[in-house]
Amino acid sequence: MLMQATLPFEQAPYLDIANPEYSVRSPEVRAAREASWYARTPYGLAILRHAEMGQLLVHQSLRQGSHSWPEHNGVNEGLFADWWCNTILVTEGTDHTRLRRFLNPAFSPKTVRSMIPFFERLTNDLLADFIDKGECDFMTDFADPYAGRVLCYLLGISEDTAEEILSLSSDMGLALGVTYKQSLPVIEDATHKMYDLVEGVLEKRKKNPGDDILSMLINAGEGDDKMTHDELMNTGVMLVFAGVDTTRNQLGLGMSLFLDHPDQWEILAENPKMDMAAATECMRLRPTITWVTREAVEDFEFQDLEIAKGTTLHLFSESAGTDPTAFEEAPFDITERRGRNYGFGGGMHVCLGQIVAKNDMAVAYRLLSERITNVRANGKAEHLPDSANTGPTSLPIAFDVRA
Ligand code: HEM
Repeated sequence: MLMQATLPFEQAPYLDIANPEYSVRSPEVRAAREASWYARTPYGLAILRHAEMGQLLVHQSLRQGSHSWPEHNGVNEGLFADWWCNTILVTEGTDHTRLRRFLNPAFSPKTVRSMIPFFERLTNDLLADFIDKGECDFMTDFADPYAGRVLCYLLGISEDTAEEILSLSSDMGLALGVTYKQSLPVIEDATHKMYDLVEGVLEKRKKNPGDDILSMLINAGEGDDKMTHDELMNTGVMLVFAGVDTTRNQLGLGMSLFLDHPDQWEILAENPKMDMAAATECMRLRPTITWVTREAVEDFEFQDLEIAKGTTLHLFSESAGTDPTAFEEAPFDITERRGRNYGFGGGMHVCLGQIVAKNDMAVAYRLLSERITNVRANGKAEHLPDSANTGPTSLPIAFDVRA
């Protein structure tokens, strides 16, 4: 494909991404990407190609832009908006660096390696409950409890709490969809309950520390340089919120890809070492977080386009991951070595939990493919809108037990 010059703003394609019917994978988005590296949207700009997304993720004139999301949706108050606007995700500069310093060790490769036996045990336990039936709803029988129980394990709380945190984080997650305002009462109720839950766990950990992540955060730092109670509360809620819904949705999106490409499932079963490649390739083609947000902190020029201070940019990870200028015509193929995809964002705010998430998903796909074969759709799947944060809510599958 020939590189085209940047289109003048008025001539750039317009994508109505605030419309709940709109899909980030629609032919309209593909046509827009063919015509231009950016599009206009009701929120600001959409960035459609891989190269530009990579550059803008780390651009000095941009900050993480998710703080504007409540305002973009006409929501100016409430516990969710207050919490959201103080999370690590929207914190910048030295305050952000300080928080990452406390948090990074709890998510290091070494810490995550010690979790692998738990991920394996959990996958086998969940599978044992439905393998003899030859069918299941992949979301309710596997992805939901898996994501919920991993989070319980990280926080060192009883697995009995998994259902509650799953339901609360799903309800809070409605705030990141384009129907935020309509769902406000549900979102607020869930946020209050999540605060109560995290407060209870935090109090227990302060009295009786364990080897879970919250205890690590309480103990992190020296002397006066410690996380405050408010920071611990905000971060505790953030970890549940950021970790559960994303993982369940991403697992479901990955499984729907395998349903469409059963040959890839068999390749994984024969090559278990490709589990991480499989998890990564799923995220390239079907990222649950379909756009990552940035905001201009100053007027600047990028590829001949003037971008004014305050402009919101939505960096489209699915569009970047399927961009033919970066990947050519690249079908789902776990054996191919692909360039980087941006399902976990990038730059200073790159997903804190990405090593946990990559590993827990890799273990799940690996062990499931070892035990079941001939995976196929078994009825109609239900999905969240195909934009913002997306994924299946129901995914009925059938399979045979591998001999
Ligand atoms: C498949 C699962 C996951 C996906 C797809 C995902 C994706 C993302 C994305 C796209 C971002 C924003 C990055 C940016 O703006 O550049 C992010 C940030 C974050 N994620 Fe994840 N995530 C996942 C799992 C997790 C888990 C398991 C945790 C922790 C338990 C977690 C904690 C966080 C935190 C704390 C941030 C904010 C980081 C910061 O601003 O410094 N995530 N994630």
